[in-house]
Amino acid sequence: MGRVPWVVGVSGASGTPYAAAVLRGLLDAGEDVDLIVSRASRLTILDETGHPFRDAHAEEDLRRWLARGADGSPDAFDADPARVRHWSPGDLAAGPSSGSYPVKGMLVVPASTACVAGVALGLSKDLLQRAAGVTLKERRPLVVAVRETPLNGQTLRHLVTLDEAGAVVLPASPAFYAGARHIQDLVDFVAGRVLDAAGVPHELYRRWEGELGRDSSRGAGGTGRGGTGPMP
Ligand SMILES: Cc1cc2nc3c(=O)[nH]c(=O)nc-3n(C[C@H](O)[C@H](O)[C@H](O)COP(=O)(O)O)c2cc1C
Repeated sequence: MGRVPWVVGVSGASGTPYAAAVLRGLLDAGEDVDLIVSRASRLTILDETGHPFRDAHAEEDLRRWLARGADGSPDAFDADPARVRHWSPGDLAAGPSSGSYPVKGMLVVPASTACVAGVALGLSKDLLQRAAGVTLKERRPLVVAVRETPLNGQTLRHLVTLDEAGAVVLPASPAFYAGARHIQDLVDFVAGRVLDAAGVPHELYRRWEGELGRDSSRGAGGTGRGGTGPMP
């Protein structure tokens, strides 16, 4: 078989740096990617990066987005989006809208509660939701990195529905045991857990090795800056 990509769906929840980190991780692992950026996420991308994401300039806008660090530095990464195929969210005739289109699975990152509801209820209101529904019906891996807090009962029920349908529900909640010192470390932890759920190898965060206090130098009285100062 030829090209078999991962589908990455970016919906309109806060957390566009998570999406960029997952995309870079997939590309670093040599994976092909089919990218769907929802209409609403154009607002979060603009808000969180200061730049638009336009269908007509998708390659240029994606290249700039992938180069951007979570701290706002414009050239933090050198990622080549050549292996990314972009589909417009309104294109319901696109490849990922059919189960016969070969893909490895789909990662929705970040996932809005609206997207969670739409996939749980099978609404297929756009290509992103349709592709996620197709992923479930084809019994392929689906990872849903939901980003909202607090969660109401309705969203919790939708998340249970997705779990029961075979999806991995992965809240975008960074952990602090991996020695995070910068915003990018926290972003990369979540992105790394998304890639773990998909079985894609990466080195985005330091894994737990059964040793408490490995970063104790960062505590109060230590040589690091973690105990008393703000995270850079
Ligand atoms: C700046 C901004 C931040 C948002 N953050 C969130 C969020 O963190 N989680 C969420 O569920 N919705 C969030 N929303 C609302 C979603 O964008 C909205 O529900 C939208 O309908 C989602 O559509 P989509 O799932 O098709 O992308 C945000 C909206 C804006 C403009």
